[in-house]
Amino acid sequence: MTTEVATTVPLSMDEMLTLVEGQDFWTTRAFPHAGIPSVRLADGPHGIRLQAGDADHLGIAASTPSTCFPPAATLSSSWDLDLIEEVGAAVGREARTFGVGVVLGPGLNIKRHPMCGRNFEYYSEDPLLSGMFAAAAVRGIQHEGVGACLKHFAVNNQEHRRFVIDAVVDERTRRELYLRGFEIAVKESAPRVVMAAYNRVNGVHCADDHELLTGVLRDEWGFAGAVVSDWGAENDRVAGIRAGMDLEMPGGVNRLAELRVAVNDGRLPAAAVADSARRIADLADLANDAGASTLPEEMVEEHDAIARRAAAASAVVLTNNGTLPLAPTTRVALIGAFAEQPRYQGSGSSLVTPTRITTAHHALSEAGVDVTFAAGYEPVHAASDEALIAEAVQVAKEADVAVVMVGLPGIFESEGFDRDHLELPAQHNTLIAAVAAVAPRTVVLLSNGSPVLMPWVDQVDAVVECYLGGQASGGAVADILLGVVEPAGRLAETFPAAQADVAADPYFPGGSQQVQYREGLFVGYRHTTTHGIAPLFPFGHGLGYGRTEWSSIIVDHDTIDLDGTVTISVIVTNTGDCATSDVVQVYSHDQTGIVLRPRRELVGYAKVHLPVGTSSTVRIEVPTARLAFWDTRSGSWQVPGGVFTMEVGRSSEQIEAALPVTVHGGVSVSAEPPSTPAISVTDADFARRLGRPIPAPRATRPFTRDTTMGDLSVTIIGRMLRSIMNRSSGLTADTDPATAAMMARATDELPLRGLVQFSAGKTNWRFVDSVIMLANRRPFAAIRGAFARVPRP
Ligand code: BGC
Repeated sequence: MTTEVATTVPLSMDEMLTLVEGQDFWTTRAFPHAGIPSVRLADGPHGIRLQAGDADHLGIAASTPSTCFPPAATLSSSWDLDLIEEVGAAVGREARTFGVGVVLGPGLNIKRHPMCGRNFEYYSEDPLLSGMFAAAAVRGIQHEGVGACLKHFAVNNQEHRRFVIDAVVDERTRRELYLRGFEIAVKESAPRVVMAAYNRVNGVHCADDHELLTGVLRDEWGFAGAVVSDWGAENDRVAGIRAGMDLEMPGGVNRLAELRVAVNDGRLPAAAVADSARRIADLADLANDAGASTLPEEMVEEHDAIARRAAAASAVVLTNNGTLPLAPTTRVALIGAFAEQPRYQGSGSSLVTPTRITTAHHALSEAGVDVTFAAGYEPVHAASDEALIAEAVQVAKEADVAVVMVGLPGIFESEGFDRDHLELPAQHNTLIAAVAAVAPRTVVLLSNGSPVLMPWVDQVDAVVECYLGGQASGGAVADILLGVVEPAGRLAETFPAAQADVAADPYFPGGSQQVQYREGLFVGYRHTTTHGIAPLFPFGHGLGYGRTEWSSIIVDHDTIDLDGTVTISVIVTNTGDCATSDVVQVYSHDQTGIVLRPRRELVGYAKVHLPVGTSSTVRIEVPTARLAFWDTRSGSWQVPGGVFTMEVGRSSEQIEAALPVTVHGGVSVSAEPPSTPAISVTDADFARRLGRPIPAPRATRPFTRDTTMGDLSVTIIGRMLRSIMNRSSGLTADTDPATAAMMARATDELPLRGLVQFSAGKTNWRFVDSVIMLANRRPFAAIRGAFARVPRP
């Protein structure tokens, strides 16, 4: 796929100014005389959401059926680059079949807090994994001749006030945690597109941020593709084009007059417009008029099978006393409404209309298992219901094993809002405890997009985290229970024992204008390993069904140069009675005493598949660059000189060997020497790390185009506007509760500029600016503005 760029586009200035805005909700503009075709973009990431007719970016309007693969939170637990690439390729094939040129994914934001409502769409709390997994997905998609789009760039780690929130983060943390995954994915997989996020970072909207989009992304990392705004993320279009934010989506904003003026008065350099136009024109090879309205039946079959295999292989066995896998003759009490109405994907822009759905009840019955079903709870709200529990208890008593399928109903986690807590619904917890008290054995299967607390964990025989399994999740459940596929996943995130154990918790999700990333580098296992906090289940944990022994754990060199690589090798032997997979993880422990660091940081890993009775030598290469920290003094990556220990483990808490390696030629000082990092970060500490006083949150007055509808509703005109919006939201009594909640939040949190950006040309700036002036108690200015002529150069 070409990433070469032409130097100019044969378009007039007006044409270029038109090209940098989308044509409609999903396509770019065509200029046939200049050989520039229209390119279709579609969500993404774990299936294609192709909308016909009325379009929206929240998954509300209907979309064409496509395979709903397991989302990123599920696939990441596989730690299997080949599998992630294979799923990416399948998504790419469907995109190509539908005539889609760019898939809006993968999403690789860091899971700063398990309560981010959109974590199901992201890979990990660790930037190395996030970057490697995203690169694999990009390779898969782009292998099919379709472009991939990394999102959401950058520091987009919550849904609360996502259009306007300002993430205040120190430079070292920004580089080491929040940009690093993007850096890895850009360098390793050359994505064709990157999406600028909604939020602000250190005061600047990502879509207006020159340092981010040009300085870091292009000049430092060598990104050669186009930047697209998240839908409605552009704040100041002139600043955006100057920053390198090429394509504004959705289209229909009609900026031509405004941009012409800016070019003519010199605020917008013609060269910046030409650069953006050229980068959009360079996506031409992704144009594709295939435009099938359904997938061929063989593809449906084949991709459903991939989705099923991927879901089963990614599931994580958290505990198992030998109860799993089940013998096919086991009498199973299958408990939980999710066995018939699975929770298999999250709500929002990634919502896919599946080609089919396989339920666990159906798949187990089809596999010949003797199954008795009880719902145990109502699947949408999981309200308290003792009768459903009593029925489940009865069924559980009469079986050999109770398999309880619980998790988070859709309303508990979604794009558009964050979770309120880490608990399962109370009805689910009560159900498990009641069943475990009477069943001979109890297995819990979890369906959720992010960690939950498990007060019953010691009362049950096995717990499998299935995450959100995609459309074939029911088939995957049957395969897992019967051992047809080993649930070989390892957690790509920490399951905390309590919400208070999440370092970001005191600062998440911040106020109405600002969120402070005070915990700095101490996210997930970086926090728990540094502060000696025992998680419920650690990062990297997963038991699978097999048994392995590790021996001869060695490192090939005990010294390493700055441009060198050490190789850690381990002989892994399958000592169990079934084929199995294992994941050897290598964490670095910086002992140099030069810079403050988390106690453990993942620097490499390898996944190995072992047939019964075999062993294999696993090699993990760790380039010295992986030991680098972001040095704020020089503004560059630096490696400390001195001793590191390579800790080889089965999880971030289970280390099997520690191998010392000495780095030669590294730096000997840093701006941040080691100290015991405080769990609670004072104002003074945070300001010192920021290198400036903590900025005050932006004032909510005077009102501007970036004021949210909710913030404007303290005025009469704001309330009127919001009630009109609510009435025209298109929601019906049949809209599912998660989507309805997301819409309510979206209306409240939408900045006023969004009224134009999402209106497909029906609302103009004159109207929005008049509303703002009225709200600012400037009625005469509002009247003057309403009758003013649109500026023409
Ligand atoms: C989401 C993006 C998505 C876009 C288009 C936005 O609201 O944040 O991830 O690609 O809509 O649907």
